[in-house]
Amino acid sequence: MAERYAKITGWGKYIPERVLTNHDLEQMVDTSDEWISTRTGIRERHIRTKNDTTSSMATTAGQRALAVAGITAADLDLIIVATSSPDYLLPSVASQVQDQIGARCGAFTLSAGCSGWVYALTTANQFITSGMYNRVLVVGVEIISFAVDYTDRTTSILFGDAAAATVLEVSDQPSGILASELGSDGSGALYLYVPDGGSVAPMSQHTIDNNRQFIRMNGAGVFKFAVRTLASSLKRTIYQAGLTPDDIDLFIPHQANARIVEHAARQMRVPVDKFYMNLDRYGNTSAASVPLALVEAIEDGHLKDGDLVAMCAFGAGLTWATVVMQLGTGEISLAHSLFSVERARYLARRTSDMVLDSAQSALLPLYTFLYERRKKK
Ligand SMILES: CC(C)(COP(=O)(O)OP(=O)(O)OC[C@H]1O[C@@H](n2cnc3c(N)ncnc32)[C@H](O)[C@@H]1OP(=O)(O)O)[C@@H](O)C(=O)NCCC(=O)NCCS
Repeated sequence: MAERYAKITGWGKYIPERVLTNHDLEQMVDTSDEWISTRTGIRERHIRTKNDTTSSMATTAGQRALAVAGITAADLDLIIVATSSPDYLLPSVASQVQDQIGARCGAFTLSAGCSGWVYALTTANQFITSGMYNRVLVVGVEIISFAVDYTDRTTSILFGDAAAATVLEVSDQPSGILASELGSDGSGALYLYVPDGGSVAPMSQHTIDNNRQFIRMNGAGVFKFAVRTLASSLKRTIYQAGLTPDDIDLFIPHQANARIVEHAARQMRVPVDKFYMNLDRYGNTSAASVPLALVEAIEDGHLKDGDLVAMCAFGAGLTWATVVMQLGTGEISLAHSLFSVERARYLARRTSDMVLDSAQSALLPLYTFLYERRKKK
């Protein structure tokens, strides 16, 4: 069988009309625009209107992605919807999307917190490269606002609603998805969770009286996990693709907090302006965050045919997922032939990266000590 690759050929988004700005939040909780924007980089987020449902938002984004790919719903072999906020506990929201979009194929929902869409993209890639399917619609969608406590200033400032979709199609060109990593550390479950509403603690009056239907988060714990994971998972996956961070044209990180991205960029010794961010306008849209950033990066010209992209998401679980891919029809040359100047260069760059990493880790206690001493003065 000829080699099979999976490529993104279509993309689309749906953003609810209603905007919730930092100034609006100032009227709701004890916070300020200044605090939110300096600590997170977020200025506003969109919140569903009464006509928006998770399935309707996913369907609209999906239809837009199909139009860009130039195919119809009838051409689809599979639909995967990543979300933590489905229309109902049962049935799976992917089946509503399949029906509303007019497809006749299998459909399932995937739950991996904010990492969901990157998990789904990796899953779709396996269906395509294995030869089972040729065209898969991969959607990230979230009406996360329904699980947000708008009297809690530590979480309400972060999240927003959105949907974004991509069409993944088979290709015989050696590009598309080059490498991916999926990760999970369930020991961190309570860092980010909704206490009630599942089988452990079904909804009750006690739930409502104690706001246990809403997201609870250990912000500082998630922050540290996120910085560590973003930098290390991106590097591992980039190496796995036979590339180094220098080769990547654009990084698309989960849009949780600009400070997380800045710290990770510093750890990776990559200029922060190579990290695409639109979180100022949308906040953290959970499973929709990375695909929404990808769609906007393509739409506003930050990405072009042949560009190498590294995407990484992290979130509840705790989970993380990273994909390195090449857009369009560019050729992957680096490090793919065994004996070449490119391969020698790749190995040299990778070795120097590792030496710098080790030096950075060894010097970390000293830096921390000097930083603490400076703060005390
Ligand atoms: C939540 C988060 C923004 C908090 O920022 P932070 O700089 O760590 O702030 P801290 O939690 O240390 O709080 C600092 C102070 O600000 C206060 N504060 C917290 N939220 C505030 C708000 N919205 N407005 C004003 N003050 C606030 C705290 O009460 C604390 O006050 P104190 O010093 O008097 O106790 C940050 O930890 C974060 O982004 N974490 C990751 C969250 C995330 O990405 N979650 C989703 C993952 S998918």
